[in-house]
Amino acid sequence: MTIDSATATGTDVSTIDLDEFIAGIPKCELHVHLEGTLEPDLKLELAARNGIVLKEKTVAEVEATYGFDSLASFLAVYYPAMHVLVTADDFRDLAFAYLTKAASDGVRHVEMFFDPQAHTGRGVPFATVISGYRRAIVDAHAQLGISAELIMCFLRDLSAEFAMATLMESLPYRDWIIGVGLDSDERDNPPNKFAAVFARARREGYQLTCHCDIDQVGSIENIRQALEDIGVDRIDHGTNIVESPQLVQDAKRRGIGFTCCPVSNSFVTSDMKATEIVTLLRDDVKVTVNSDDPAYFGAYIAGNFAALAGRASLGPEDVARLARNAFEIAWLTPRARAAYLEELDTYLARYGL
Ligand code: ADE
Ligand code: ZN
Repeated sequence: MTIDSATATGTDVSTIDLDEFIAGIPKCELHVHLEGTLEPDLKLELAARNGIVLKEKTVAEVEATYGFDSLASFLAVYYPAMHVLVTADDFRDLAFAYLTKAASDGVRHVEMFFDPQAHTGRGVPFATVISGYRRAIVDAHAQLGISAELIMCFLRDLSAEFAMATLMESLPYRDWIIGVGLDSDERDNPPNKFAAVFARARREGYQLTCHCDIDQVGSIENIRQALEDIGVDRIDHGTNIVESPQLVQDAKRRGIGFTCCPVSNSFVTSDMKATEIVTLLRDDVKVTVNSDDPAYFGAYIAGNFAALAGRASLGPEDVARLARNAFEIAWLTPRARAAYLEELDTYLARYGL
């Protein structure tokens, strides 16, 4: 069934073309690392622009380095690739390229992670990074009508002192950053290592989120710390929570959102975790679908919806629920949230949903 032939009542959802429905549904992306949107062709272009000599000379050669099967082996490819990002224009072009793709994928609002320490640690000033990213956000809003915010992530495998110094460095740009998160290698780096950093970020008015990656040593304890000790507003990934009915109840009661990334899961754990995501969805936990590091995992947000829907035999109502969850847990103003939800409802009404 196409949009034109849908009727507002009595629609047989089994006739809906799910790919077309997924392509068109207004989306909100809450888990994408800007540095993970660096496509091989842009990497080669930025290297040439900055006089950096890479071993790889073609897109195929860059892609041939993408041999990862765990979080650690992914990160070992991800961090060195970022060295081609040097000037504010580079950061602007990276983020604008992502926002252009996202807009064409039906994304209406996005909250994007960035890793300042991966740049300041190699001598690129914080101001260079954030001014480039900010320019992309302003340009994309004006040219593409997409809204975007930045979430500053701390690298959990580095020290809490470096994270605190980075938090302090961010304060002059407070209005350009909506929240803080925690990413990188989780092993032996639990949320509580950064308790003082999160507490200070909260006092400064930032929203809080935290990666609890899939199937980590101590996943459940790290989820517990994020929820109970740190008091996060969202959890990134975090589907291991299904192992603890008590934590699930707590997350439900507090309306905590989970930013799931099915295709990424299938790379770092060889399992999309579709069963866990759908179990939580059916239990009315606010799970969402996102792309994580789309240039590396080969799927932007629509591709992630399609992959999950295919694996778990989801129908349009499930897809609609996942899309709605994201607008509901996004760090939007009440007015912006209402406007996006109305856009979503208008779209769904065209399908009789
Ligand atoms: N940095 C970029 N992608 C990440 C992920 N999936 N987990 C932890 N850190 C990351
Ligand atoms: Zn992530």
